[in-house]
Amino acid sequence: MNLSGKHILLGLSGGIAAYKACDLVRRLRDAGAEVRVVMTEGATHFLTPLTLQALSGHPVRASLWDETAEAAMGHIELARWADAILIAPASADVMARLAAGLADDLLTTLCLATEVPLFLAPAMNRVMWAHPATQANVQTLAARGTTLFGPAAGTQACGETGEGRMLEPLELVALLSRHLAPEQNRPWAGRRVVITAGPTREALDPVRFLSNRSSGRMGFALAEAARDAGAEVVLVSGPTALPTPEGVTRIDVETALQMRDAVMTQMPCDIFIGTAAVADYRPLEPAPGKIKKTADQLNLTLVKNPDILSEVAARLDRPFVVGFAAETEHVLEHARDKLVRKRLDLIAANRVGEGLAFDQPDNALTVLWAGGQAELPQADKRQLARQLIELIDQRITPRA
Ligand code: C5P
Repeated sequence: MNLSGKHILLGLSGGIAAYKACDLVRRLRDAGAEVRVVMTEGATHFLTPLTLQALSGHPVRASLWDETAEAAMGHIELARWADAILIAPASADVMARLAAGLADDLLTTLCLATEVPLFLAPAMNRVMWAHPATQANVQTLAARGTTLFGPAAGTQACGETGEGRMLEPLELVALLSRHLAPEQNRPWAGRRVVITAGPTREALDPVRFLSNRSSGRMGFALAEAARDAGAEVVLVSGPTALPTPEGVTRIDVETALQMRDAVMTQMPCDIFIGTAAVADYRPLEPAPGKIKKTADQLNLTLVKNPDILSEVAARLDRPFVVGFAAETEHVLEHARDKLVRKRLDLIAANRVGEGLAFDQPDNALTVLWAGGQAELPQADKRQLARQLIELIDQRITPRA
């Protein structure tokens, strides 16, 4: 993450996620940015300007009518100083005022008085986010070229669960870096990544199949994150309802055998990530016609499907191979065993079962590799995907 020399005007509006802004200022400065903070009146109820002044190293402004501050650096001067404006958290109210073009406080005035890119990290209760008024404002702002980072789904300060959580500071810095300095922030440029996602379907007869609850979300989120890191991404997907991420090549398949064939046509590659919940078995011979319910018992003969991940890992020209382990119990033991048995470079393990992981927007992962492990706590799958790509990156090119 590189923002060296960038002037970031960080706007804070009123919301409980403002507490994350302290860390955000620090992370932005760690990435090399110079940060000046402007708060709405609402934000000052959550954090004091003094805290942010100490963290940013510059006086914080919260009012349009501050004569001393105007004399030191007028608001137009401040608008000219910025290379970008990031509002985090962006409340429903500030988004409404921006969409309407209001300039009723310093922050909205600065947004009107500048031509530099505007980035918003929305943070609000899920019902406020889903409200048609907020969504209409999002559309208006997006059509005007404003970039939205998030929000993520997950547990909220109000105790509810849903979409509306502000992205984590590190993610915001990563996203901002990619927008403002794309060349320095594309560590996977020139790399080819192949990802499997979703379930497979194994036909019993022309109308029925064996399958599982995988939604494909994790794999699709990884495809986006790998693309954002600059990679050329091929996504081999079983049946899902998800839209293809922009800039990603998608190959649709149904069965495990088709998935294996599609993956092999994409070899060699630099990184292979197997998130697909591939059916372990398939019916020996799908019935040519619809199976009739005549007998009291029906026995199915199943045969083992090829293990795509192991096959990729066994190739002489093997890529860096990442697997997933979805387990209902003894998660870490099984995952470590799979890491060794399938000759993987890294494995992401998670607990599945009632209301966990499969078909859910959230997940938590334990990532294992030979000689190490990392915990990625409960978060939106897109956030987890970015963190996982970062971990893979560290394993591919170990840093001193
Ligand atoms: O052995 P298990 O199915 O638990 O391993 C899970 C990992 O192996 C996942 O990464 C999954 O995508 C991959 N896999 C595969 N081909 C199979 C079964 C699993 O690539 N036939």
